[in-house]
Amino acid sequence: MARENRWINADLARADAYDRRFQELAASSVDVHGEAAFVASYEPRSVLDAGCGTGRVAIELARRGVDVVGVDLDSAMLEVARHKAPDLVWVQADLSSLRLAQRFDLVVMAGNVLLFVAPGSEAAVLERLGDHLVPGGRLVAGFSLYGTLTLGHYDALASDAGLALEARFATWERAPFVHGGDYAVSVHRAGGQATGGRAGREGRAGGRGTGSSSSVARSSH
Ligand SMILES: C[S@@+](CC[C@H](N)C(=O)[O-])C[C@H]1O[C@@H](n2cnc3c(N)ncnc32)[C@H](O)[C@@H]1O
Repeated sequence: MARENRWINADLARADAYDRRFQELAASSVDVHGEAAFVASYEPRSVLDAGCGTGRVAIELARRGVDVVGVDLDSAMLEVARHKAPDLVWVQADLSSLRLAQRFDLVVMAGNVLLFVAPGSEAAVLERLGDHLVPGGRLVAGFSLYGTLTLGHYDALASDAGLALEARFATWERAPFVHGGDYAVSVHRAGGQATGGRAGREGRAGGRGTGSSSSVARSSH
């Protein structure tokens, strides 16, 4: 049985209301796919969307031809995802105890997921997600630095999970990260043989803007 978390307790817009916000932005020509574009730049064949919510990122990745699985604790969020994309794989599970048979080229946590997991479970979440990566696979996470999780703590937890920092940006459009900023997109790498992708080949040099969705991606609660 899934346990409650800070997301469900937070009394924020969930399910249809959460999804509607992005639909309205998309309808007003705002690019709401900054995270998916960032992930796709690594050219992964398979992606685990960890804390997938209503499937915003996973569905866009599937549209781009990526084999994607979405996992979330909140049945109301997953119900919207299933309704929008019934052919994709949606799993209701707690990331801190996740055990899937599949391994992925990349795991993404978009929309402050790490700030919503149960307090104290962050290490278990990173350990479980690291275990779902192929050798050389990447963990990509974007979260607000106004929250309780510092980058130093996050990097230490990632290191404990066998993941090394590869790149860090201020936005999903690869604005350069500067210390003291309010948001970070971090790319950590599992040990082993490298997987491909334009972004990976360019590594930390990637400082180019590719769109205008940073305000959208950053405000995902
Ligand atoms: C702000 S939403 C982001 C949803 C989606 N990633 C996006 O960017 O639109 C945060 C999501 O994290 C999920 N979440 C929080 N803790 C979780 C956990 N321990 N296991 C699985 N999902 C979790 C919540 O249920 C919620 O759907």
